[in-house]
Amino acid sequence: MALRNIVKDGDPILRKVCRPVEKFDEKLWTLLDDMAETMHAADGVGIAGPQVGIMRRVCLVDCYDEDGVIELINPKIVATAGEQTGNEGCLSFPGKWGTVTRPLAVTVRAQDRNGEWFEISGRELKARAFCHEIDHLNGVCFVDLAKDISIEKGEEEE
Ligand code: CO
Repeated sequence: MALRNIVKDGDPILRKVCRPVEKFDEKLWTLLDDMAETMHAADGVGIAGPQVGIMRRVCLVDCYDEDGVIELINPKIVATAGEQTGNEGCLSFPGKWGTVTRPLAVTVRAQDRNGEWFEISGRELKARAFCHEIDHLNGVCFVDLAKDISIEKGEEEE
């Protein structure tokens, strides 16, 4: 496994729509392992392909609970319920925070690293992370949706 560089605000890569993953091979597995390591090293709860310069529909979520690292390949949100409004940040926008309204509960259909389809549901932080990461695959960043953006000086993490 290896750390990958995190693409930061201002890079046009963050604004592009990703293509589907078609090959479920060792190259993908290495990418997934590297993305997990990069996310954990930055204390993130999610990371998406474009954030490591990969324009494919792949993202990870880890809310540090019993689900562990959730690998989402070619994910789609298939159901949502309710609403939550809260603070959100992003590894590509260090020190920036904003208030974003998201669904309270989200169900995602995605493929795993072997290409098998599955569904997973999450509430609260996990629902927020699913929405945030899948947005990245469509070139959407949280700052596009946020109100009250604040910038912390010299403090990148919560
Ligand atoms: Co992000």
